[in-house]
Amino acid sequence: DISFTYADPQAAGGETHQVAGGDIPTLTTQQGIPVADDQNSLKQGARGPTLLEDFHFREKMFHFDHERIPERVVHARGYGAHGYFELTDSLSDVTRADVFQRVGERTPAFVRFSTVAGSKGSVDLARDVRGFAVKLYTQEGNWDLVGNNIPVFFIQDAIKFPDLIHAAKPEPDRAFPQAQTAHDNFWDFVSLTPEAFHMIMWTMSDRALPRSFRTMEGFGVHTFRLVDAKGKSTFVKFHWKPKQGLQSVVWNEAVKINGADPDFHRRDLWDAINAGDFPEWDLGVQLFDDAFADSFDFDVLDATKLIPEELVPIRVVGRLVLDRVVDNFFAETEQVAFCTQNVPPGIDFSNDPLLQGRNFSYLDTQIKRLGGPNFTHIPINAPKCPMHHFQQDGHMAMHNPKGRVNYEPNSWGATQGGPREDPARGFISFAEEADGPKQRVRSETFADHYSQARQFFVSQVQIEQKHISDALVFELSKVERPDIRSRTVSHLLHIDPGLAATVADGLGISLPDGAVAARQPITDLPASDPLS
Ligand code: HEM
Repeated sequence: DISFTYADPQAAGGETHQVAGGDIPTLTTQQGIPVADDQNSLKQGARGPTLLEDFHFREKMFHFDHERIPERVVHARGYGAHGYFELTDSLSDVTRADVFQRVGERTPAFVRFSTVAGSKGSVDLARDVRGFAVKLYTQEGNWDLVGNNIPVFFIQDAIKFPDLIHAAKPEPDRAFPQAQTAHDNFWDFVSLTPEAFHMIMWTMSDRALPRSFRTMEGFGVHTFRLVDAKGKSTFVKFHWKPKQGLQSVVWNEAVKINGADPDFHRRDLWDAINAGDFPEWDLGVQLFDDAFADSFDFDVLDATKLIPEELVPIRVVGRLVLDRVVDNFFAETEQVAFCTQNVPPGIDFSNDPLLQGRNFSYLDTQIKRLGGPNFTHIPINAPKCPMHHFQQDGHMAMHNPKGRVNYEPNSWGATQGGPREDPARGFISFAEEADGPKQRVRSETFADHYSQARQFFVSQVQIEQKHISDALVFELSKVERPDIRSRTVSHLLHIDPGLAATVADGLGISLPDGAVAARQPITDLPASDPLS
């Protein structure tokens, strides 16, 4: 019975006042001043002007005016949850990383899933790549594995990322279409960027329409390094394998779901965790050495290529469990900041030119998005291990160094001098040899753009292949310029002539002379495809 908390509505001019008392706390301003009336601004007379003096009104309104922060420049729409990572197989043979030493130990985790191209208010089931960003609060600092649900990427060099994203987002004059892939700019860029076609095969496949965040794989994409205590490095690719299995919806379902429930994926995750049905993934690693890297048909530094699991099997080393929803979406999911450069001792980068560029980009954008250089003071971003440094000041500084000393070296002694370097525990970069002229160049080992695209396409069962060709026909049918459509189909000829023939047919365009479909067109499936 809350009726006793209501003041007499008549006495207060008709509006509802709910008053403090008993266990109900007193409403205050941000300065802690108790508030007597939160329904009426301060006026000169009952019908007079509102007074500038009303500090409660001004504080409340000013704070509201500043509620929005910029959305992420990509991956704006996302949903996060807390959990833990548990090590099941020690990697102490290949890395000194603390998180990989002791079997059975649990490391707190926060995960944010996302779409890439849509704005913060866009629909969950867009045809798009999904982000799969994991923050592990290890005892030697935060490790962010900022991955996707597709193991390869559109481009090989970070300098192309602004172009890719400009082309994928709504066109700048008309601000539509919001559907990422279905427009001239996107396909214009892609058709002029052959390296994108492996990823295009994945984004036109069922992988781009996951049934749930819980039924997606995650991939670190790049080749990273694990480094042991002696400084020896082993290359590694990271994989998250869902225990729930891999599931997608078909386009027909996606379109309906987006209309009926644009929050389909976030609702699904929220409901599952609150019902105690905690989603879980295995962490797998593909480990390989220089000899394998040298013998591999492709360059392990090329993010448009994967390493087939038949060549390097996956070793499962742990599990990730999500068991707690957030208390507050903005404080946690919106303010969380993942960054590829956040790696603890024992994990290191490769020279992948996409990864190198990402390492620069994330911190830069977060300094803007989160209002300055102190966003690690926000609880969701703060490490859960001891942390001492001499960085200070800036907007919203919460943890300035204590005492007189804010520099080193200093001679203030052990008790007053503050933190010191630690050559034994500290991060030491892998001592990779580097030589050669300074030049803007793409290695020739990055040149084969179609073999793995073909491998992916032929690995799909017939109905999955049909979904790919249907998706290409649908997306390209939204492209107005015929030359962009033809140029795209000409790339498909290098991947699979049957696919090219089917898509050309669906678009009503003829293939170039001499391009004979080597395989039966995919449309020769039974008419009663129950899934489409
Ligand atoms: C988010 C840049 C490639 C996965 C972002 C953000 C930027 C960015 C600026 C927004 C970060 C923020 O505001 O907090 C880039 C650049 C790339 C690149 C420059 C290539 C040169 C990739 C790749 C992956 C990826 C290859 C996957 C392996 C993600 C994810 C997020 C993200 C998952 C969302 C993180 C979150 O949930 O907060 N990226 N990105 N990005 N990126 Fe990338």
